[in-house]
Amino acid sequence: MSVPTLAADQSVCAPLPVLGRDVSVPLVTGGTVTYAALDYAASAPALQRVWDDVAAYAPYYGSVHRGAGYLSQLSTDLFENARKTVAAFLDCREEDQVVFTRSTTDSLNLLAAALPADCQVFVFETEHHASLLPWRDARVTVLDAPRTPQQAVGTLERALADRDPHGPALVCVTGASNVTGELWPVRELAEAAHAHGARVVLDAAQLAPHHPVSVRDLGVDWVAFSGHKLYAPFGSGVLAGRADWLRAAEPYLAGGGASRRVTRRTDGGVDVDWHESAARHEAGSPNVIGAYSIASACKSLTEAGFDTLVAREQYLVRRVREGLAGIPEVKVLSLFGDDAPRVGVLSFVVEGWNSSHFAAALSAEYGIGVRDGLFCAHPLVRTLLGGDPGTQGECGAPEAAPGERSLNAIRVSFGAGTPDEHVERFVRAVGELVRDGARWTYRTEDGRCVPAV
Ligand SMILES: Cc1ncc(COP(=O)(O)O)c(C=O)c1O
Repeated sequence: MSVPTLAADQSVCAPLPVLGRDVSVPLVTGGTVTYAALDYAASAPALQRVWDDVAAYAPYYGSVHRGAGYLSQLSTDLFENARKTVAAFLDCREEDQVVFTRSTTDSLNLLAAALPADCQVFVFETEHHASLLPWRDARVTVLDAPRTPQQAVGTLERALADRDPHGPALVCVTGASNVTGELWPVRELAEAAHAHGARVVLDAAQLAPHHPVSVRDLGVDWVAFSGHKLYAPFGSGVLAGRADWLRAAEPYLAGGGASRRVTRRTDGGVDVDWHESAARHEAGSPNVIGAYSIASACKSLTEAGFDTLVAREQYLVRRVREGLAGIPEVKVLSLFGDDAPRVGVLSFVVEGWNSSHFAAALSAEYGIGVRDGLFCAHPLVRTLLGGDPGTQGECGAPEAAPGERSLNAIRVSFGAGTPDEHVERFVRAVGELVRDGARWTYRTEDGRCVPAV
């Protein structure tokens, strides 16, 4: 059968070509400028190659798994091959399963629904809400924010030492923080967990797009990530790892695709024989384009070479850090210290500025897209900001009320598609706004700052 293959080797430029790289946006001060997408941590632009692969496949699109036709079989092959590509990308063990989900949030909720009875869960308060919240039906221990990677390991070890050693336990750790970009000591945390009979799920939503992730090397039991942060924004995510808990659990969703055989009982009820493969947790029609696009992104990043990608991204990180370090009013947020290794994600506050106002000015006056707020990691951001709203300024009239809204930060994030010019423009814009102030007037609308027209 002739299956369209993922596009063959292409010359890898730095940065990698992404969609939207030539899009112009209007400036409130007049004229237009090329959009500088610096919100990769929320959603990264699609890699051009991912888009091309999806476009090449689109005419061959067909129903997956149950169709008898040629295109159905072809699509089924692509879907199942996508699992193999993801397994290779994550350096999974032979026996691991790759389940396609909608996102990291979905993956972690799936695992939460598959926990064995009486499972204890350990999670740091610093996690993204997607990692912090799904375990509420389990016995959860929320660990205080550590201030060094060693403290993180020590805190986890102490908590695990106190646990009931007989029942199952799970530790949920993030690979790279979505707020500070800092790398967490995943291998050491996994060793500590295993030494105490606990398993580990790695939230790699922010790690996988920036860094190679090896399940074997890190020694984690599961990995979760999202396609839309990995340059494949077609609505799919991944949960990969040990099959036993997944196989023993009730299907995440009940329905077709997850069931192997369904029969009526003599008492009128229905008996179901569920699949034991990944399909058990993929009921409903699979998102074949989502899975295929993730596989394309995995191949693209692997072929571009993480050594090259990391080196380039670290150059951009240094450029941003040095630029911001030269502006005394800017405070970059950090849990593990200013020199802690991090991916291309940095959050900061600017003395005298409301973060929403600052982010609005970056957008309206410079065409730079960043993010402001608490980044779905409220406990972490509050810890980092020390809970002090006193340094925030007003956005315009009416003044933003102090409290939740003004207690926020600005996040800049970038990756494989980011040209130097975007970070240069960003550093220059931050300096100019701090020195000269905004050139436009802004007002508060629905709790956000927007240009007053
Ligand atoms: C560290 C981390 N984990 C999980 C998530 C949730 O990802 P998604 O919204 O794709 O489910 C995010 C999203 O920003 C994240 O940064």
